[in-house]
Amino acid sequence: MAVNEDLRTPIVSVMGHVDHGKTTLLDRIRGSTVAEGEAGAITQHIGATEVPIDVIVDKCGNPALRDKFMVPGLLFIDTPGHHAFTSLRSRGGALADLAIVIVDINEGFMPQTIESLQILKRFKTPFIVVANKIDRIHGWEPQKNAPFMVSYNKQSERVKSELDRKFYEVVGELYNAGFNSERYDRVTDFQRNIGIVPISAMTGEGIPDILMVLLGLAQRFLEGNLHYDANGPGVGTVLEVKEEKGLGTTIDVILYDGTLKKGDTVIVGSLGKPIQTKVRALLKPRPLTEIKAEEKFKQVAEVTAAVGVKISAPNLEGALAGAPVRVVSLETIDAITAEVKSEIADVQIDTDSVGVTIKADTIGSLEALVNELKKEEIPIRKAHVGDVSNRDIVEVSAIEDPFYKVLIGFNVKVLSDAKGKIQDSDITLFRNDVIYRLIDDYKDWVKEQKELAEKEMSDTIVKPGRFQIMPNCTFRQSKPAVVGVKIIGGMVRTNVDVTTVDGTVVGKVKGIQSRGENISEARVGMEVAIAIEGATVGRQIKEEDFLFVNVPERHAKTLENEIYDSLTADELETLDAFLEIKRKGNPFWGK
Ligand code: GTP
Ligand code: MG
Repeated sequence: MAVNEDLRTPIVSVMGHVDHGKTTLLDRIRGSTVAEGEAGAITQHIGATEVPIDVIVDKCGNPALRDKFMVPGLLFIDTPGHHAFTSLRSRGGALADLAIVIVDINEGFMPQTIESLQILKRFKTPFIVVANKIDRIHGWEPQKNAPFMVSYNKQSERVKSELDRKFYEVVGELYNAGFNSERYDRVTDFQRNIGIVPISAMTGEGIPDILMVLLGLAQRFLEGNLHYDANGPGVGTVLEVKEEKGLGTTIDVILYDGTLKKGDTVIVGSLGKPIQTKVRALLKPRPLTEIKAEEKFKQVAEVTAAVGVKISAPNLEGALAGAPVRVVSLETIDAITAEVKSEIADVQIDTDSVGVTIKADTIGSLEALVNELKKEEIPIRKAHVGDVSNRDIVEVSAIEDPFYKVLIGFNVKVLSDAKGKIQDSDITLFRNDVIYRLIDDYKDWVKEQKELAEKEMSDTIVKPGRFQIMPNCTFRQSKPAVVGVKIIGGMVRTNVDVTTVDGTVVGKVKGIQSRGENISEARVGMEVAIAIEGATVGRQIKEEDFLFVNVPERHAKTLENEIYDSLTADELETLDAFLEIKRKGNPFWGK
């Protein structure tokens, strides 16, 4: 049996928790090193790679298989595992005919493993589970690129039983998620049981097995669905909008249905009106290359799903990554334009009336950034796809709240007309190509700014203080009274008013001395001499009296509402005791 030209290439999405090895697995299949080149070592955009059937059969190590399978190859989709990218994952899941859910056998199921399973359940996508990183099992003897059973049989009994134990944990977790599963070679009915393949994406062990099982699944489940109508109009999704030398703006697309030809009229989603344009050139990445990383494209006259392809056409500047691409005819153009428009409207993002302003390079990453900011309860004033423009600067400059006078950009540039402006403005710009770093940077900055503001405030604000006049320590009775005191809580500074425990102001601290030296403040625990102007010992104050620093009402308010968190436990206790005195007469004092 040869390749059946009527079968379309199945799309296989690789999904799973961050760092469990999706990109490395694809690297192993295509013989590349994409994972090593990623910013922050995480995948942040969907990718696509075509793997021809010959390569797959070759990697399976059994040339006889060549005649058994009819699909022309597999189109692998790499998805991000980081929790921020829920929408990209579901997009990857929605595109898929088949999927691989990868789980680190040593770490077990994690939140995005479960999320991936839920997405596949929702779309009823057949999948296999890959238990990765078996080479990390203590004592494992790697057998490069060997089929799993070959490698397994060469391990010691202890290593084997350790692998079995971890393997059955995965089976148990799948059961909890609602799936029956077994090791792939023991599965007789793939419709009732999920096959699990233990592998190492690092050493290549188990890779032949994955490809075998995938081909089998593709053949069995998909034969019915994969016949395509060669005349069917192409349907796809924009992966990325890219500037290319000599071509201008191009779009990288996954065509998942139908055919796309040079000269076709296509509708492409954008933030405004959908773009209508004519395909000038179709550029295909070489087999086994990730479209995101390809530099040598081949011009072709037409492509058939499923395939990753670069489209060169006029007016693509406003195209939106994540948006649909549809081939239209005279009859369908109006209806399809309206459909594309409403699909984009669905991804508009709820914003708050005050908050940060964010920009990102694609719809998917903008959604991811929004999700993360929401989780941190950081309000968002405006969220848009695109580079930082002059207009953004003008708008953000007008914001008064210093914490929101910021622009947060994920994977975007600052346009040349905005560059000078931003330097002259008091806007703070955060840019990064890793989402969580961007958010951390903003949070760190806010914390720093708050600390600075608090420090400034606490330098000028009267802090609470409680002290006791010590017995036999009256050095002078009045004008001013000079007494020895012990600071019980908080601090006493010069020029603060002093009050008794019933709230009467008795005088002002004119000076503080410690061991004969003038000092400006005395902190808890210190014994010092203080001069109190306006009080007379024996009249308003006497030895062993407890006295308080009289915190003015406005300062008390600031202490309680704005810098409470920066006060020490002992300052807090002193403040509370002081407020209690003040609020005895007036419950709303300082509120
Ligand atoms: P995201 O795209 O961010 O979700 O991660 P990912 O699932 O694509 O993981 P990636 O392939 O980037 O691998 C994460 C780390 O695990 C890298 O340091 C890999 O080298 C390592 N790794 C992947 N597979 C294996 C494996 O089989 N064995 C060992 N020892 N390390 C592995
Ligand atoms: Mg990855």
